[in-house]
Amino acid sequence: MVGLVREGEITAMTKLQQLVDRLEKEHDLTDEEFVSILESGDPDGNAYLTERAAAVREKIYDRDVYIRGLIEYTDHCRNDCRYCGIRRGNKNAERYRLSREQILECCDRGYELGFRTFVLQGGEDPYYTDEDMACIIRAVKERHPDCALTLSVGEREKDTYIKWYEAGADRYLLRHETADREHYESLHPAEMSYGHRIQCLRDLKEIGYQVGCGMMVGSPGQTMGHLVKDLRLIQKLQPEMVGLGPFIPHRDTEYAGCSTGSVELTLKLLSVIRLMLPQVLLPATTALGTADAKGREKGLKAGANVLMPNLSPTDVRGKYLLYDDKICTGEEAAECVRCLSLRVEKAGYRIVVSRGDHPAYTALAMSDF
Ligand code: 5AD
Ligand code: FES
Repeated sequence: MVGLVREGEITAMTKLQQLVDRLEKEHDLTDEEFVSILESGDPDGNAYLTERAAAVREKIYDRDVYIRGLIEYTDHCRNDCRYCGIRRGNKNAERYRLSREQILECCDRGYELGFRTFVLQGGEDPYYTDEDMACIIRAVKERHPDCALTLSVGEREKDTYIKWYEAGADRYLLRHETADREHYESLHPAEMSYGHRIQCLRDLKEIGYQVGCGMMVGSPGQTMGHLVKDLRLIQKLQPEMVGLGPFIPHRDTEYAGCSTGSVELTLKLLSVIRLMLPQVLLPATTALGTADAKGREKGLKAGANVLMPNLSPTDVRGKYLLYDDKICTGEEAAECVRCLSLRVEKAGYRIVVSRGDHPAYTALAMSDF
């Protein structure tokens, strides 16, 4: 019954399936095998990858989705990353800063909405001194001792990271952006260095933060080889979270004419990373939701288990623009949560009220509390 042509197709399918099975079992493949998964255009094989990643996600996290309340507290930045809309050289960016009181109000509102993790994200803005930040961290933790606090404020020196950890910060997000030094240098101005970025990630881990690294998918000049290097870095660093979303051009950057990164490739990477590090926290990012109206839902189905809705005050949301056409810039926090809950439920998942720690840290967090 099975004709020759069908037989060929079955063999190809089996090959991809075997790779996926091995990745699930051994959490590793050769560079060439990673590339063949990422490059495969076989719909059945790709569906199998998604299916296995979703199964692993479910085994560990059930159908739960963790939410993190993102507070974009400043869009001033001393850096000039070539791809980023809030880089210091962009004279068209409307700059703003939130006060300590405004940040605390965002947290209070978020708490009422069910958030038990807050993420303070901003450009690298020296206006807030190390002590100012420590003060904000202490105030958030004092008001909400049952919540986790994540920082996403870029590259600093180790003693600063220690100070903030001692003030109560639990987690730190610092995307490595690309694990290839030359590619890193092509995306960043000369005063930024790949070595320092990686040193920061190492320091953060050593201090005891739950750490998130990550990269853009489809950033200018990115190759499959670079993505494999990203996977190797992730394996080596063993971060608690990996943030990835498609690159989206910003009109006021030199990459304005470039195309948006592939949603399909982003989804594949989410699945591959889920199989590589089964327990890792994987957000379905706003960039993914911007590149595709159903991107976040597709992300959850491909192995993601975290969403990071915006808690920033409505009047500043439209200003924190790293890329064009960012979604959710007009909505109130409560609206976003309502909208997301509906979307999540429709996709077959549920948002939970929880700090949503990495499993390795859950016992630790409980004993702290
Ligand atoms: N497209 C997609 N993601 C971007 N980021 C910055 N600029 C862009 C862009 N143009 C990502 C970077 C950064 C994170 C906060 O946002 O990876 O680390
Ligand atoms: Fe913000 Fe839907 S998640 S409006």
